[in-house]
Amino acid sequence: MSQSADHQFLEVYDWACERIASTAARLDGSETFPHVTDDGRWRTWRADIYAGWDGDQWSHGNWTCGFWVGLLWLAYLRTQEPRFAQWARSFGELVAPRQLDENTHDIGFVFYPSFALGSWAANDDVLKGPALGAARTLVARFNPRGRYLQAWGPLDHPLARGSTAIDTMMNLPLLWWATRETGDARFAEIARAHAETSARYYLRPDGSTYHTYSFDPESGRGIGGGTYQGASSESSWSRGVTWGIAGWALAYREHKDPLFLEAAERAAEYFVGAVPGDLVPPWDFADTSTMPPQDSSATAICANGFLVLETVHPDPLKRSYYRALAEAMLASLCHGYIGRGQEEREEGLLLHSAYSVPHGDGVDSSVMWGDWFFLRAIAHLTIGPVPVP
Ligand code: GLY
Repeated sequence: MSQSADHQFLEVYDWACERIASTAARLDGSETFPHVTDDGRWRTWRADIYAGWDGDQWSHGNWTCGFWVGLLWLAYLRTQEPRFAQWARSFGELVAPRQLDENTHDIGFVFYPSFALGSWAANDDVLKGPALGAARTLVARFNPRGRYLQAWGPLDHPLARGSTAIDTMMNLPLLWWATRETGDARFAEIARAHAETSARYYLRPDGSTYHTYSFDPESGRGIGGGTYQGASSESSWSRGVTWGIAGWALAYREHKDPLFLEAAERAAEYFVGAVPGDLVPPWDFADTSTMPPQDSSATAICANGFLVLETVHPDPLKRSYYRALAEAMLASLCHGYIGRGQEEREEGLLLHSAYSVPHGDGVDSSVMWGDWFFLRAIAHLTIGPVPVP
C-alpha cells in the first residue's frame, strides 16, 4: 500500500474514533445501543432484548449490540484513550447476560467483537468468560444429523429446528476462538461441520448463494433454499454472498481444507463479477432497477474476507489480487460512502447500507455491523492484524 493510501486510511480511522466518541458520550448512561440509522440518526435499543416470539412475529433480538462494543475497542486500539475502554466495559456489562440467549445463532456476532476482541485489546482474561459462555450456548444449537447450527428459534420449536442461514458463517469465528482459548476441539469441529454443510447446500453453480436453507431436523436431509431478506428464493442477496466469502475464508484459515478455499473463491468470483465499478453492490443482485438500494456493509464484509484470503491463499499472485481488491473496496468506501463532512446529518460511519429491503427496515442507512466491519478492515490495514475474528 502506498504511503498516501495508508495516510488516507489513518485519517479516516481518526475521524471514525471521533464519531464513535460523540455517539458514546450521547448514549452513556442510557443503556441503549445504536442499531441502524433513520434519517441519519441512530435508532437505539437495549441489549437485553432477547430473540423470541413477539406475538406471532419472530424477533431476532438485539443482535447488533456486540458490534457497538467492538467499535469502542477498535477506537481504543487506535487512540489508547482510557475513555474508550471504559465505555466498552460499561456497554459490555449490559451485553454479557446475553451469553445465555438460547434462541439465536447471532450470539456469535454479539460476543466476538465485544468480549473476544475486548479480552485481547485490554489484555484482560476476565473478559473471556462471557465469550466462552456464549460459545457454549451456540454449540447447543448444533444438529448432528444435518451437521448444521440452527439459525433461529427455540431448540424445540418444530418449524425453527430445521432453519439455517448463510449469516451463520460469520458467527462461527466465536467457536474457532473458543477452541484456541480452551483447547476443547469440539467448538471448532462444530464450526467445521457447519461450514461444510453450508458449502454443500448454499453455493449455487454460478457462485451465488442462498440466504436460507431448510433441513429436516430428524433425518438431517436438506429440503431447499429460500430467503428472508433477499428479493426471492433464487435471487442473490448481496450481503449473504459476502457472509459466505468471509466465513469460508476463515474456515480455510482454521482448517486448511481446500473445500473452504474453493467455496470462498467461487463466491468471491461471483461477487466481483456482479458488483458495479465502485465495488458496492445493490442490496440484491436481482434488483436491476436504475437506482436500487445499495448495501455498503456487504463491501465492508467482503473486504474483511479478502484480507483473510490475502494471508492464507497458497498462491502469492492470488494473495496480491485479494489484497488489492480489499484496498480498492475500502478506498471506494472512504471516497464515496462515509459520513465525513456530513456530521450534522449523519451519525454513522458508513452510509448507504441496507438492513432489509423487503421489510423496509434500515434502507439507505448506516448499520452497526457495517461500521464494525468497515473499521475492522481499516484497523487491519493501518495498525496491524486484528486477531478476532
Ligand atoms: N442477520 C444478519 C444480517 O442481516 O445480515
